[in-house]
Amino acid sequence: MGIPFLLLLCLPCPAVASARIPAVIVFGDSTVDTGNNNQISTVLKSNFRPYGRDFAGGRPTGRFCNGRLAPDFISEALGLPPLVPAYLDPEYSIKDFARGVCFASAGTGLDNATSDVLVSLLCSGRNQQDNLSVIPLWKEVEYFKEYHRRLRRYAGQAQAKYIIHEAVYIVSIGTNDFLENYFLLVTGRYRQFTVEEYEDFLIDRAEEFLRAIYHLGARKISFTSLGAIGCLPLERTTNALAGGGCNEEYNKAARDFNVKLQALIRRLCATLPGFRLRYAPVYDGLLRIIANPSSYGIENVIAGCCATGLFEMGYLCNQWNDLTCPDANRYIFWDAFHPTEKINWIMAEQTLKTSLAEFI
Ligand SMILES: *[C@@H]1O[C@H](CO)[C@@H](O)[C@H](O)[C@H]1NC(C)=O
Ligand SMILES: *[C@@H]1O[C@H](CO)[C@@H](O)[C@H](O)[C@H]1NC(C)=O
Repeated sequence: MGIPFLLLLCLPCPAVASARIPAVIVFGDSTVDTGNNNQISTVLKSNFRPYGRDFAGGRPTGRFCNGRLAPDFISEALGLPPLVPAYLDPEYSIKDFARGVCFASAGTGLDNATSDVLVSLLCSGRNQQDNLSVIPLWKEVEYFKEYHRRLRRYAGQAQAKYIIHEAVYIVSIGTNDFLENYFLLVTGRYRQFTVEEYEDFLIDRAEEFLRAIYHLGARKISFTSLGAIGCLPLERTTNALAGGGCNEEYNKAARDFNVKLQALIRRLCATLPGFRLRYAPVYDGLLRIIANPSSYGIENVIAGCCATGLFEMGYLCNQWNDLTCPDANRYIFWDAFHPTEKINWIMAEQTLKTSLAEFI
């Protein structure tokens, strides 16, 4: 198993070393957070073992994975560094960020209320936001502005403009709005909106975000669609009364959101000159693997590798669990909420062939 997969990993790596892409810039949630949450006082962390078990040196980095995330693979395939550094990581400087930077934060969403879910859960509304919140999307945009200023000081006005304009942007966000906020019934959004109305609300938030980064100079953007969010192990577990299958209500919300997202993308491309916003499909890809795991060398599509795989993530997925599987490459999911490195690699390859294809 190990050897064929290594071959698979290495063959496409040299890919297209493109001089045209100066940097990879990342916004979003835990699917793409390369370590920002390590630097804030949230409980949503993964900078301890067995996270990072299959990372270089077996090092936990704050990635919610056994290894690398899709933006890391994409960066490498574009001839850029094999890791996209987290903006808040003090080990890196603007010199590194000029070639790639990640503003993402695990637990965040398009909806401001999503980044405060833990505040709602643990403090019953008391205002301790600076303590427990993860980084809301508007603040990721604030960091992007600060980055632009630092880049101008470091590289000069013209070069900074070139980097911002020619970089590839990867956006991956939205899962938490449904799973950690709306359907979890903790913030009141479920009383305020029907699911359809909430989808529209999130699309409006996505539009605000996309217009904001457009006006700040971003042009080449890959917006990752929602996956089959009802098939995450945690959602199967909470669906146990219904037989433990995928939660079809959640999957339907993801599909409907994706349809609306595609309409938004068409509309923005038609109205914002030079905006090259592209849709990265992942929903069908994940279901294909779930339907046909053996052709990917995968044996378990239901539970995560870490601990029982049924509900553990973050601090519950830790080195004191004897049940953690020996070979994550046989699993789709690393913990109860996040895919393994192998799946991230497959998703990165698909993104390079779809939304990013025309940029490279
Ligand atoms: C989200 O929060 C930011 C910062 O407070 C604010 O500017 C923005 O209007 C909020 N968005 C919504 C939809 O409330
Ligand atoms: C949270 O905030 C309170 C009051 O502002 C402070 O006393 C406490 O140390 C903070 N806790 C963390 C983990 O930052």
